Amino acid sequence: MCGIVAAVAARNIVPVLIEGLTRLEYRGYDSAGLALLNPTLTRLRSVGRVAELAAQAAGQTAHHGIAHTRWATHGVPSERNAHPHVSAGLAVVHNGIIENYVELKQELLAAGYVFNSDTDTEVIAHLIQHTLQSAPDLFAAVRLATARLTGAYAIAVLREWDDSIVVARHGAPLLLGLGQGENGGNYAASDAAALLQVTRRMIYLEDGDVAELRRDAIRIVAADGTAAHVPADRPVHESTLSADDVELGEYRHYMQKEIFEQPQALAATLEMIGGAQTLSPNLFGVAAPEMLGGVRSVLILACGTSYHAGLVARYWIEQLAGIPCSVEIASEYRYRVSVPNSEQLVVAISQSGETADTLASVKHARALGMGRTLAICNVPESAIVRECALRFLTRAGPEIGVASTKAFTTQLAALFLLAVTLAKQAGRLSAGQEAEQLVALRHLPVAVQKVLALEPEIKAWAARFAAKQHALFLGRGHHYPIALEGALKLKEISYIHAEGYPAGELKHGPLALVDKDMPVISIAPNDALLEKLKSNLKEVAARGGELYVFADADSAVDAEDGVHVLRLPEHYGLLSPVLHVVPLQLLSYHVALVKGTDVDKPRNLAKSVTVE
Ligand code: M6R
Repeated sequence: MCGIVAAVAARNIVPVLIEGLTRLEYRGYDSAGLALLNPTLTRLRSVGRVAELAAQAAGQTAHHGIAHTRWATHGVPSERNAHPHVSAGLAVVHNGIIENYVELKQELLAAGYVFNSDTDTEVIAHLIQHTLQSAPDLFAAVRLATARLTGAYAIAVLREWDDSIVVARHGAPLLLGLGQGENGGNYAASDAAALLQVTRRMIYLEDGDVAELRRDAIRIVAADGTAAHVPADRPVHESTLSADDVELGEYRHYMQKEIFEQPQALAATLEMIGGAQTLSPNLFGVAAPEMLGGVRSVLILACGTSYHAGLVARYWIEQLAGIPCSVEIASEYRYRVSVPNSEQLVVAISQSGETADTLASVKHARALGMGRTLAICNVPESAIVRECALRFLTRAGPEIGVASTKAFTTQLAALFLLAVTLAKQAGRLSAGQEAEQLVALRHLPVAVQKVLALEPEIKAWAARFAAKQHALFLGRGHHYPIALEGALKLKEISYIHAEGYPAGELKHGPLALVDKDMPVISIAPNDALLEKLKSNLKEVAARGGELYVFADADSAVDAEDGVHVLRLPEHYGLLSPVLHVVPLQLLSYHVALVKGTDVDKPRNLAKSVTVE
């Protein structure tokens, strides 16, 4: 989604803006732009990569500037729709969607403003300009104008001859960076990665905050419904991200790097339990012992890959803890009439912690009186983490590739810890059984490492897929969500149409699609459902379908004509989905390489989906 960088400093901030946008490229974008003050306004915009904008900006110097990567919502990707949008000498960049922009546009057109783009953002520029006619300064005008906006936004605004930059957020992420050392200055960005080049000292703005940045000072005012500028007290966080976390290093793509980082990401996430033989509910926050105590059922809310993690967790929670668990796509839950249950634990799963639908679904649950909320998230201080009463932070490190990989496996580790904790509270696990589950969990990094060694064979399979138009992924039981995840990975980065199905459902419809051009990928762990799965695979083979089977070392499935089998080194019981997803990630990665798609930034997608 759109990315924002803003800088005001004694140094030349043009390289800071360009480097910041480069760091935000992973979020997904189709055009980029910046506005500089010298002290009059220079605006540069380009469709395509930040590198093209950087070429345009070569030789420019400035001490005030705002910059943006745009992911189109209102209006096609084009230079005229790229941000910043201007109104006289004022420029605005924006992330989010303004829902009442049509009404505001009518009003501004009537007042004589001329629109040069199809965006909702241009409305903000003219609205602030208009408000300046009666407001004492830019800060006050932004406060008054944003109070009229409905929807989600993070914005940065500057205007000619003014030595401040004003930023505001409501429903879209924005943080401030406090400059350090002789270069000093103050900064704002959509995420911390953009500002690590200049500072580690960050302030996460809250919804409704408006902040003014000057070279040597900042002020933040919260939305408090009053006209008075009462300063808001926001804590300063020292970012622990390292520059290496966001560098490609020896890898060709972030997705590849992130797939191979999984052993380390799992180990880091599991460090939280150290060598404990038994889990404490405190793992999920200080209020967890009390909140988890009376839990009678679980509702998981998430989108995309995080939703698939929730689907796996349902099997674990119901099997281990004996507690009913439902899993809902956040964008559906937030709008449907549901039956609230205050004893239910609401678990929001999100890599970014900023996904608009997931955030809104948690707010919806809370509004319905469900206060037992837990965030499982990879980004500390993100909106979803702050919205929930309890939290478990996965330690996958920054995930840059749009296709989620290491976030998923670490979410699974966190959800397994939750299932064990709930099982223990329900009195369904003996001390010995609990210790056994923890031993299996701690072995995961080593087990995943062994699966990664299958890459050469998977690469050979990928070459056969690249020419296909469609693919079917089959799984049963807690591997059914892994089939869904395998299909999602393939479609998002290779653009091959793929569907995930529970294998038993095949004959109820999708079997009609099977022929020699439809590769069928099946997850065949050595579990209680293996024999049933084998019958399903026979149904495929009998229709001339080509089967690619990911089995366990000891699964009784043999390669034959039209049936290719790859064996995972270990058989892993309940935690097997964590291993079986890894070859599917590698498969989609290598298919995308053969097809030559943009692996880390697939078309039309964004990393952090901060709009509905
Ligand atoms: O940041 P979140 O986990 O909330 O994101 C949810 C989905 O947008 C995300 O998982 C998406 O489906 C990925 N591109 C899948 O690889």
